[in-house]
Amino acid sequence: MQQIETAAGHLRAGKLVAFPTETVYGLGADATNDAAVAAIYAAKGRPDFNPLIVHVASSDDAKKYVEWNDTAALLAEKFWPGPLTLVLPRKKDCAISLLASAGLDTVAIRVPAHALAQELLVKTGLPLAAPSANRSGKISPTLAAHVQEELGDKVAMVLDGGACAVGIESTIVDLTGSPRILRHGKITREELEKFIPLAEQRADGKILAPGMLDSHYAPNAKVRLNAQEAGEGETLLAFGAAENATLNLSESGNLEEAAANLFRMLRALDAQNPAAIAVMPIPMQGLGVAINDRLARAAAL
Ligand code: TXA
Ligand code: MG
Repeated sequence: MQQIETAAGHLRAGKLVAFPTETVYGLGADATNDAAVAAIYAAKGRPDFNPLIVHVASSDDAKKYVEWNDTAALLAEKFWPGPLTLVLPRKKDCAISLLASAGLDTVAIRVPAHALAQELLVKTGLPLAAPSANRSGKISPTLAAHVQEELGDKVAMVLDGGACAVGIESTIVDLTGSPRILRHGKITREELEKFIPLAEQRADGKILAPGMLDSHYAPNAKVRLNAQEAGEGETLLAFGAAENATLNLSESGNLEEAAANLFRMLRALDAQNPAAIAVMPIPMQGLGVAINDRLARAAAL
């Protein structure tokens, strides 16, 4: 289908393509491309870097990126392709952008059931990061027209697959420890419990808000914010014009570029065991709000 060819071309070129899944429309980008993933956050206007769900064509593809285990194999066999997302540890040398993981050591991954999503994944051969294709705080889109309305000017293309059959998002299950539900969705607790035991729900019925695991963002090194230069033993993470920068988030002061580089550069500097990572000020506007949020978490002891 010509539309799929065109969409695949855009994705390979690092552009955004909205595509249908059986749950809701996703705002898709090449999950291995930092800049493309940063463009998702920018388009959604997300106040923080909530990690993104990565879509792949099959369990075999998932195994390329995450540490597989027996529970994952069982759930994948029963529910994939379908509306179940599994959170699993990133493999060593995982090709997926750290920005898609929002700096966590895990990836939320699923195999969607929608025929167009499947075709697109097979055609590109890429893992596709795709949050729901709505602006932050708005309702998830279940029609191509919703996406066109809200994000039409931000995407290279909206692939129209009609109305989404499910209409609510996938269930997210964390398999990094005792299995537990992070987000309720199409697949119910009862359906899951036919196959695996799940950690007890909290007495108040609340579930852990995913993406809010502060400590995971912290490097080993101290992080000093709003630095103008590196002090003794420190290493400088610059933004904009700078002398003696070890790494620069964006020499031209571009916030999207800085977002794309953030988690990767923090890790690289941390690996040098500096006395501290000194980070130059980032303006509090646009994606700068999210970048500062993550930097503040990284700096908190
Ligand atoms: O049905 C769906 O899941 C849709 C379609 C497009 O696949 N996608 C979707 O994505 O709902 P989004 O970005 O709107 O929601 C992703 C959720 C967020 O709550 C995020 O915190 C959580 O997944 N998440 C992503 N990666 C995670 C990770 N590594 N650990 C814990 N939670 C994660
Ligand atoms: Mg959403």
